[in-house]
Amino acid sequence: MTDPLSPTSPPASSSPAAHRKKSEDLRSHRWYGAKDLRSFGHRSRTAQMGLSRDDYLGKPVIAILNTWSDMNSCHTHFRQRAEEVKRGVWQAGGFPVEIPAMSLGEAFQKPTTMLYRNLLAMEAEELLRSYPADGCVLMGGCDKTTPGLVMGALAMNLPTIFVPAGPMLRGDYKGQFLGSGSDTWKYWAELRAGNITERDWQDVEDGIARSPGTCMTMGTASTMTSAAEVLGLTLPGASSIPAADSRHAMMATHTGRRIVDMVWEDLKPLDFLTPASFDNAVTAVLGLGGSTNAIVHLIAMARRAGVALDLARFDELARSTPVIANLRPGGKYLMEDFFYAGGLRAFLREMGDLIDGSQRTCNGRTLAENIEDARTYNADVIRPRAEALLESGGLAVLHGNLAPAGAVIKPAAMEAHLRRHTGPAVVFRNYDDLAARIDDPALPVTKDSVIVLQSAGPQGAPGMPEWGQLPIPQKLLKEGVRDMVRISDARMSGTSYGACVLHVTPESHVGGPLALVRDGDLVTLDVDARRIDMQVSDEEIARRRAEWQKPIPKFSRGYGVMFLKHVQQADTGCDFDFLAPDYRENAGEAPTEGEPEIH
Ligand code: FES
Repeated sequence: MTDPLSPTSPPASSSPAAHRKKSEDLRSHRWYGAKDLRSFGHRSRTAQMGLSRDDYLGKPVIAILNTWSDMNSCHTHFRQRAEEVKRGVWQAGGFPVEIPAMSLGEAFQKPTTMLYRNLLAMEAEELLRSYPADGCVLMGGCDKTTPGLVMGALAMNLPTIFVPAGPMLRGDYKGQFLGSGSDTWKYWAELRAGNITERDWQDVEDGIARSPGTCMTMGTASTMTSAAEVLGLTLPGASSIPAADSRHAMMATHTGRRIVDMVWEDLKPLDFLTPASFDNAVTAVLGLGGSTNAIVHLIAMARRAGVALDLARFDELARSTPVIANLRPGGKYLMEDFFYAGGLRAFLREMGDLIDGSQRTCNGRTLAENIEDARTYNADVIRPRAEALLESGGLAVLHGNLAPAGAVIKPAAMEAHLRRHTGPAVVFRNYDDLAARIDDPALPVTKDSVIVLQSAGPQGAPGMPEWGQLPIPQKLLKEGVRDMVRISDARMSGTSYGACVLHVTPESHVGGPLALVRDGDLVTLDVDARRIDMQVSDEEIARRRAEWQKPIPKFSRGYGVMFLKHVQQADTGCDFDFLAPDYRENAGEAPTEGEPEIH
């Protein structure tokens, strides 16, 4: 049996030897191989680091973009993993160079890492452009680091492999497993309802994140690393390996070996990323019951690859894709269980003909070849399609007079009786207003109310934070209410759950209809009809629109100004307009094609 993680077995679909690059063809040759004063400087400064010409000259330079940081608890093992990637690069005859990149620590960064995803994408692109990289290994995993790194690398389109950080071990609390995020919300609600003590709450705090690695539910991190694997950007099986497992270190070394071959083969992401491979990623995210955040990120990643993925395609695929991974927050198990059950390779095999196995991947083989020997070892964790958790509907895209350009909901993670619901709106102007009033005993709210949060979108918050799982008012929690219809232009953590309508587009800050909802307006959610509407006449909406005043921008200097000026709406992935592959500033005035000559 072949080891799917090993890049040493001959790839079934690799480039013919005749197409292998020569040393003089390497991009890094312009830095190291030229006989000029600039290259003298590059070589002498490499010698300054104790490296002789034998160490690097004529070898592929592999840039390892490492998002390690003391402010990213999910990547604490990345210093060591970078060494393991380097070991593989050296073994294969390459020259590894580790370059730190912005870390985006989800647990610490305010107001949201999403404000900085595009900044990481820009940084990754420019690091690869400005340094002598022939190929790159991207080290990420904590939520936005995956799309940020991948978006930047796709813009450069060098041979690329992504090393996912891997999920952390299961959380532990009084003999029970804890799931990242989902159990945080659960026990927070119990604390606010008076059902657990502060001491219990501290025990949850101490046990919920007990090893390196990303959140271990099928939250945004595991959703996006799984998507990266399905796209062929990781070695097969890589995304499911727990960070603390020794096989994770082996995967890092295998990656280091494989990326050197990819450079010689000149196998680049845009050689194998196709509309079908993005359909595969969407289908996998749906089958996994993955995070709604994947919608924004996959659309942005696809656009960087020149693939026109849109909300309609998500909804179309969701109508026919079963949820077969029994993983929290929608299901029962955690990522560690998923790995022991066979991981993503077994999952993809169970998905059968819903996945187009002919798509190529970074190891030179097709997806089908990478999973042909995969087996499921626990059929309750990775269900056969005949025993799916849900036959369809992992995500749903809504439209209506509240969201003309779309909104999303995760039907798999909401109470079923709310799928069709009408109730009066209780409107909060912004997050501060919500925080100040949500637990006010005098708030006129019942379990049938629809809670609305404005100014939480890409420009309004700004950065479209994960505020979308709006809190249930305390007085309703005490009555036993655990789910209500909630609407915002925010995103929601992939570890969250509830009847939360998210990504309302256009957002309220730019004058979307969400800005025009008033307390008491009747709002109707109909998941099956894919509708979200306020029962307000067109005339009244027009009258309110005429009165509406554009809010003052949140930034007056720095990166924030650039963000507000260029960020696009959620339905197109929240990328900056000027980072689109076909963007041309002052078209016709300057050379615009290809990589500029670097001297
Ligand atoms: Fe890093 Fe959740 S906080 S993945």
